[in-house]
Amino acid sequence: MTSVRDVREKAGTTPITMLTAYDATTAGVANEAGIDVLLVGDSMGNTDLGYDSTLPVTVDEVASRTAAVSRGADDALVVADMPFLSVGVDEATSIENCGRMVKEAGADAVKLESGSHTVELTERLVQLGIPVMAHLGLTPQRVKETGYTQQGTTRDEGHEILDLARKHEEAGAFALVLEHIPANLAAQVTDALSIPTIGIGAGSDCDGQVLVVDDVLGLSSYSPPFSKQYGNVREQMLDAVSAYREDVESGGFPADEHSHVVDELDDLY
Ligand code: KIV
Repeated sequence: MTSVRDVREKAGTTPITMLTAYDATTAGVANEAGIDVLLVGDSMGNTDLGYDSTLPVTVDEVASRTAAVSRGADDALVVADMPFLSVGVDEATSIENCGRMVKEAGADAVKLESGSHTVELTERLVQLGIPVMAHLGLTPQRVKETGYTQQGTTRDEGHEILDLARKHEEAGAFALVLEHIPANLAAQVTDALSIPTIGIGAGSDCDGQVLVVDDVLGLSSYSPPFSKQYGNVREQMLDAVSAYREDVESGGFPADEHSHVVDELDDLY
């Protein structure tokens, strides 16, 4: 089983592989492929739940998907992504919501979209035994404020991200996701920290990489330019489902080998 310590110790040595997963089947495949960390991302709002952003995703939805991923993955570290407003409003509710992911859903850690409001909370969660992965740069829960544009593009913003990264490391975060920031900023943050950075749209100098599984599989109808497709599962699904429909409509399915006859039931009618 991959532990938080294993991930932490990979900083600066072996690249960390992280992928999102939202169900037991996908988690099983990713686990078999040797992925280190499975993130039950609130990106499930866009990929699986049909929302047009991550904002409507609930604690119950993440908890249910986290439990499925935990059941499907024996070796990978499972990280539950805390949805919009589930943390940061008040400390007791934040701790209760994060605690649910570990106690009820079987997560090994939680990820918080981070900012100045999550530094103390990170420290408190870590004190209580809930490992925290921080997340800076583009944080899609702030879409109303920032859109989905690249962050950290000015010197001030770069300093702010570096400063917050250091504060979250001091607060006890075991890893830091850096999303959609310039590669040279991500490289400097990675250099400045002893905990691993895991990049998405943040260049090749991070300690690890994360992608959304639907993008990797080629299942998404839209993928961001910084992602890479390793399959075309959407096309394969369309081919298979269309072939099934045509087979039913033409009488080709079910064939004799798909049917079971019990002789003594002949002549009932
Ligand atoms: O929700 C998610 O999938 C994420 C990753 C993009 C890091 O936060």
